[in-house]
Amino acid sequence: MTRVFPEKGIPWATLKAEVLEVQKEDPKWREGRMLMSCYFVDDALMDMTREAYGMFLLENALYSGAQAKARKVGFATITQFEDEIIKMALEILQGPEGAAGNTTTGGTESILCAVKAAVEYAKAERNIPGTPRLLLPFTAHPAFNKAAWMMGLEVTRIPVKADGRADVEAMRAAVDENTILMVGSAPCYPFGVIDPIREMTEIAAEHGIWFHVDACVGGYQAPFVRKLGYPVPEFEFNIPGVWTMSADLHKNGFAAKGCSTVLYRDAALKEYATFRFEDWPYGSYTTATVVGSRTGGALAAAWAVMKYLGEDGYLEAVGTIMEIKKQIVGAADAIDGIYVPCEPDVGLITMRSDDFDIHAVADAMLERGWLMGRGREPRSIHVAVHPIHAKAMNGFLSDLSGAAEAVRSGAFAGSGQEAVYAG
Ligand SMILES: Cc1ncc(COP(=O)(O)O)c(C=O)c1O
Repeated sequence: MTRVFPEKGIPWATLKAEVLEVQKEDPKWREGRMLMSCYFVDDALMDMTREAYGMFLLENALYSGAQAKARKVGFATITQFEDEIIKMALEILQGPEGAAGNTTTGGTESILCAVKAAVEYAKAERNIPGTPRLLLPFTAHPAFNKAAWMMGLEVTRIPVKADGRADVEAMRAAVDENTILMVGSAPCYPFGVIDPIREMTEIAAEHGIWFHVDACVGGYQAPFVRKLGYPVPEFEFNIPGVWTMSADLHKNGFAAKGCSTVLYRDAALKEYATFRFEDWPYGSYTTATVVGSRTGGALAAAWAVMKYLGEDGYLEAVGTIMEIKKQIVGAADAIDGIYVPCEPDVGLITMRSDDFDIHAVADAMLERGWLMGRGREPRSIHVAVHPIHAKAMNGFLSDLSGAAEAVRSGAFAGSGQEAVYAG
């Protein structure tokens, strides 16, 4: 059997050559050919991110925070990064006086924290007779089901309206005595539309139910889209019934992977997600995250990116995204047999067809070197717009039209590939 773990160390130059060889098979995101998940602004930002991340690669964010600071132990730099990231986040997302938050490793972890807080709150403050239940629009992210799977909860997903937004009345009708958490997305990933958050919070408030806004993908995008003058529905903490929010810096915050924020309307709510432990030999252990150790690099990089871009940097990036979005929506609607079923609030576009198999169009695009997302229900293809797509737009749109024509005319049948989001 060939050994994978080398007996003798291999020089980095050799390893790097091997990596570059394998990397040739990766999607060509730098050429704008991956229509999802490439949150890249430019090389200057990338270089700065790399340097900031590298400066704190081995520093552990577990050894930071207010308590470590008060005792003059732990990493003061990381404490400051996290403090300022949360202050900036709360400024962008209209956090009220007394609001709190912390960084996490990603959107899923932020959601796990909020769900755990809701569970603990319900245990402490409410009398839930059965298994606690999460009430979600059908479009909410799978991370809520993952949380339920981990914590032994039930989940009800409610079909959304034709415009892709949560059906407020259907959600009202689905509330029961076991409902501990209601969720709205800002926006949902499949359709890029923001749920009617204010109306949904009013239902939650009537029943004393924790309300979470999942702004993982839109938290650092939608407020800037609105500032540019586009009509973006409100979802932020100015709505009194919003208790928690997840917002990812490693998505439209343009930070390196490994950084999200979970924000609480009040520091007292964060207490419900805080784990404290004393009963072992090595001293007290307190975290408000799911994970323990985490790299200071992700925090340093996120802090540097937010400060480096500033509001004008985000506005510029978002302006580019919204221009591209307009171009794609217009071009897709003009293609015979393709339509965009919901007008997205941000740069996430769904395309459908009633005339042919839209997944075959994604297959035909793959043959032309473009990687697009796919939706299952309804059957659709998907584009997440990023600034890097500006340079590829003409080629993308003409190939999209060609791919659709090939499928419509029967010249291309598709490969029957399924819609897979992860794994
Ligand atoms: C709306 C929404 N919520 C949550 C997540 C989960 O984020 P992560 O993959 O960083 O865990 C995503 C990821 O795309 C998302 O779009």
